[in-house]
Amino acid sequence: MADDEDTDVPLIPELYKPAALLPIAQLRDQLLYTIETFPVTIVVGETGSGKTTQIPRFCLDAGWCADGKQIAVTQPRRIAATSVAARVAEELGTPLGQRVGYSIRFEDVTSANTQVKFVTDGLLLREMLVDPLLNRYSIIMVDEAHERSLSSDILLSLLKKVLRKRDDLRVVVSSATLEAERFLDFFTPDEGEKVHGKSKEDYGKIISIEGRTHPVEIQYLLEPTNNYVERAVDAIMSIHTSESPGDILVFLTGREEIDDCIDMLSDRIADQSPNHQKLLTLPLYAGLSTEDQMFIFQKAPPHTTKVIISTNIAEASVTIDHIVYVIDCGYVKLRTYDANLGIETLNIIPVSKASATQRAGRAGRTRPGKCFRLYPKTVFAQLEEATFPEIQRSNLAPVVLQLLNLGITNVVRFDYLSPPPSSLITRALDLLHSLGALAPTGHLTKPLGTRMAELPLEPMLARTLLCAATPAFSCLDEMLSIAAMLTLQGNAFVSHDGGKKQLDAARRKFAVAEGDHLTLYNVYEAFVKSGMSVAWCREHSLNHKNMVKAVSVRKQLAHYLSRFGVAASPLSSSDVLRVGGTPLAERIRRCLTAGFFAHAARMKSDGSFTTVDGKTTLWAHPSSVFFHRKAEWVVYTEIMETRGKVYVRDLSAVEMEWLVEAAPEYYRVRDGGRR
Ligand code: CDP
Ligand code: MG
Repeated sequence: MADDEDTDVPLIPELYKPAALLPIAQLRDQLLYTIETFPVTIVVGETGSGKTTQIPRFCLDAGWCADGKQIAVTQPRRIAATSVAARVAEELGTPLGQRVGYSIRFEDVTSANTQVKFVTDGLLLREMLVDPLLNRYSIIMVDEAHERSLSSDILLSLLKKVLRKRDDLRVVVSSATLEAERFLDFFTPDEGEKVHGKSKEDYGKIISIEGRTHPVEIQYLLEPTNNYVERAVDAIMSIHTSESPGDILVFLTGREEIDDCIDMLSDRIADQSPNHQKLLTLPLYAGLSTEDQMFIFQKAPPHTTKVIISTNIAEASVTIDHIVYVIDCGYVKLRTYDANLGIETLNIIPVSKASATQRAGRAGRTRPGKCFRLYPKTVFAQLEEATFPEIQRSNLAPVVLQLLNLGITNVVRFDYLSPPPSSLITRALDLLHSLGALAPTGHLTKPLGTRMAELPLEPMLARTLLCAATPAFSCLDEMLSIAAMLTLQGNAFVSHDGGKKQLDAARRKFAVAEGDHLTLYNVYEAFVKSGMSVAWCREHSLNHKNMVKAVSVRKQLAHYLSRFGVAASPLSSSDVLRVGGTPLAERIRRCLTAGFFAHAARMKSDGSFTTVDGKTTLWAHPSSVFFHRKAEWVVYTEIMETRGKVYVRDLSAVEMEWLVEAAPEYYRVRDGGRR
């Protein structure tokens, strides 16, 4: 084969854009001076200017890790932490997990040599339980702070406290929008007050990186659409046929829409003549495997247009070069918590103006670009200015539990960046109280409350697991497997050739009448019995990588429990052996009730469910055993809202008496007052 036949294939591997060419390079000295001089540095700059990848390197080179200290960089999302760590390790020419590593829940890729550590903001909060002053770090960079994620907001509050105690710590806050003043104001001492001898003026500073950006032309739809996925496909095809070639980034709200869009697109492409410029479609969402992420960052082959169809991850967390066209559906999926109903749902809501602007900006990085907004211009004018902070619309139970464990007992008067509504705090305290984590004094109970705080699981699941070893339930081994499987969030099964039917059939093989949790347990057991076989997973439509992850998560959870001194009762918990006359499957469901009593629902004659207070209708997710089967009462461990319908996933059949037994007070209030 002569090489010259392949003239289109580049012979030299594509080199990185040298870091020296990034806009941040010119500010290196100024940045280092500010970080050295001021406890707090706020960095503002366009996505792609080099904040995340370069600032930790500058600090590393300047000797901030000299005495064995580390630099931590927090990200609101797991995918950002892992991909950026990989990138920085590559730039430094070291294997990932050595000098540069990452740590996210249940996955620690660091070593004793690690100097720069990318973490999720939630993980750093957890580290504070063990090391409240974060003494192992010389610099903590809170990245993407403008996203106002729940954990990053809380982290900023706690860092403000830590800075009062450690004058050697430096905090860097990076933000893509102009919320910089607000962050600076939050950290700096009040007028006339001094911290470590520093006044408002010499406590912190804002540094702005002027990025070179090209103009982005914005186009709107004339009429609103009720199917933005279809309009997105139209827009992709019209760019493909009538605009000059350039990569396309599409913003949709979730994985389902992304898959739909890719399906529709491949139907449309099939009609295209073969010698046309090709389209390469790639999905981008949070659950994507590390290998699949890699394609996103690679340059497209010759004569190929890369079409990345993404959730709002690509808005700021993940930088993709060479995007010329952006298609924005104008919506985002946000987690919202209804404190009255006690239900956390994922809602699809219009984006804020700040988000829409940020999304459009993704187009003008390499040359002038275009952004197609799939809504009319009048709609843009009515959008909210900025995204609502997550702390004001979340279930605060997990965070309140953490704060209490850090010794912050007055969670109402805590120094929040934006205080949450008191209804959310009250609800969180109520729930923690009913779960037995909170003593009447307002402190955590010992050991239950403190152990719940330490376990990296949400409070209801933490309590379930901690109860599993008690003699009445005696199902610790089983519950460990179930908890591990639940952390996969519905991603155990995968259809290897795209068929939903095949997927349902695979699920049915493991399904049991008692519900989804026992089904998950069966899946886990069978996987381990198969010798963790890849072929076996393929045969049963299971995602091997995720199953291996479940095994690792289980091991880590078991480690926590053995550290607490919680062990399975010596009784063998095989189904034959009844504890107090109760078979294993029932003990497991009773144990689930002990943690998830607040997530109970009753089936109606039409197969839908209603919450205990009768206020909300819930539907079993199609993946659930109870999509087809009947039950009277159930508890569920996952709830989400899609297109106006509230779905519950992972359900188990329970008895009404178990609910009352598990939380008499909770249900008394319900009976008397709220029902
Ligand atoms: O944080 P910021 O948005 O300011 O920029 P960055 O993430 O540090 O990205 C700087 C440069 O590195 C950009 O040109 C990115 O395209 C590139 N990069 C990459 O190629 N792969 C990554 N995983 C992360 C960044
Ligand atoms: Mg960044």
